[in-house]
Amino acid sequence: MTSTSPWWHDAVVYEIYVRSFADASGDGVGDLAGIRARLDYLTGLGIDAIWLTPFYPSPMADGGYDVADHRDVDPLFGDLADFDALLAEAHARGLRLIIDIVPNHSSSAHPWFREAVAAAPGSTERDRYIFVTSGDEPPNNWQSTFGGPAWTRLPDGQWYLHLFAPEQPDFNWRRPEVPAEFLDVLRFWLDRGVDGFRIDVATGLFKEEGLPDAPPADQAFKAESPIWGRPEVHEVYREWRVLLDSYPGERMAVGEVWTDSVEDLARYLRPDELHQSFNFAWLEAPWSPASFRKVIDDTLGTVPAPTWVLSNHDVVRHRTRYAESQPGAGLARAKAAMLTTLALPGSAYLYQGDELGLPEVKDIPQELRQDPIFIRTKGELAGRDGCRVPLPWSGTAEPYGFAGEGVLPWLPQPAEWATLTVERQTGDPGSTLEFHRTALALRRRLRDSLPAGIDWLDSPDDVLTFARGSLICVLNCGTEPTPLPPHQNVLITSAPLTSALLPPDTAAWLTH
Ligand code: GLC
Repeated sequence: MTSTSPWWHDAVVYEIYVRSFADASGDGVGDLAGIRARLDYLTGLGIDAIWLTPFYPSPMADGGYDVADHRDVDPLFGDLADFDALLAEAHARGLRLIIDIVPNHSSSAHPWFREAVAAAPGSTERDRYIFVTSGDEPPNNWQSTFGGPAWTRLPDGQWYLHLFAPEQPDFNWRRPEVPAEFLDVLRFWLDRGVDGFRIDVATGLFKEEGLPDAPPADQAFKAESPIWGRPEVHEVYREWRVLLDSYPGERMAVGEVWTDSVEDLARYLRPDELHQSFNFAWLEAPWSPASFRKVIDDTLGTVPAPTWVLSNHDVVRHRTRYAESQPGAGLARAKAAMLTTLALPGSAYLYQGDELGLPEVKDIPQELRQDPIFIRTKGELAGRDGCRVPLPWSGTAEPYGFAGEGVLPWLPQPAEWATLTVERQTGDPGSTLEFHRTALALRRRLRDSLPAGIDWLDSPDDVLTFARGSLICVLNCGTEPTPLPPHQNVLITSAPLTSALLPPDTAAWLTH
């Protein structure tokens, strides 16, 4: 990569789940002013860009992914002036800012859906969503991603489609006002100066004409099905690309593309479509050199602008995930995986709290859980609240500086987090936070000199070793310490070497 590549090519993007980052207003929910007050923390961490999850007016049936107005800020998070101030201050510090766009569905509180409900079956208003008359049974067998049928019936007998919660009706993208509205929404935020968009449920939008039944296997995210990955969706991204390219300053879009095929992932990244997609295969790979190597080879061989993701607000935090196959190894593996991630060509998407080594919180009391997945499956699935617990900043008790003294955060923070706060970890050279700061600073120092490809180096079966120009990255996934390959210097290790050997569940960066 060179310094003339577009910024997003090798950026480290930090995902802020706005409700859980920092609360300035004192209501126990994170907000834009809270983020603004913590920008120095983010520049000190060494990231290049921030991705903000939805902060738009919303009844919060799905944490803000149920958008009622795409051109404003929910009072819970501040107002447009707070947004403008945050953007200006981020830019002044050299940080880029991308925001979430949710085009597959709106909130049921969106004026269009309210108008649709008030209007008659067959009206233009209803046709902006997917309404069907089908008697007492839902129009087809589609299930909501959050559990239960994907259809809800209105008192007048019509059913409407919601691939997520009933409070998230799916738009009808075949109706011209819908694409026109979204182009206008993108313009609204581009004019304010955002650097790009994260596109929610990017494989959604269009459904197969006739809405046919689909076998359960086709209802999961996959390359193409009656529900996901319809060919028409690519035309939308071609239009969005033209719009993004018409603005100065390398504006970009990154798609949330859950798919079972890397070739399909690449289809969203043709030169006239999206700039990037999240590489979820990386976070899905089990802890083994073979599975990591396969994802790396598939990605680098197929995807024009690779990304690497270990965690986000929808999945179990990687520290906890990696401990599932080896209890006790979670933190070591999380640090080793992060060092490997940061050595790979492309950009890395970090999730808030990765840098603190936060685990998934598994013991949130039922009555406090808010994820519609938990609620709609009546607790059968735990849902995603456990990775969304507000960050611990300082102090020894809840709310750990996330909010003012005495304020209860919207989800409870565990007592053990007293040892994981930013304050506690800062300045401790052995801490997870200082490890991330050092790794990010090294990456920044090296990145202009590193090529866009890697070479695999011979290594024992349990070890993954690759060179990227002068950098060698070694990851020991085995159970025994392993010798380092020939090298000049050790730049960083995710755990101390033992007698010059790389311990299990540890990674190192070397120069040669
Ligand atoms: C995406 C979001 C997730 C949300 C869903 C519905 O997958 O990342 O949090 O629940 O879309 O909008």
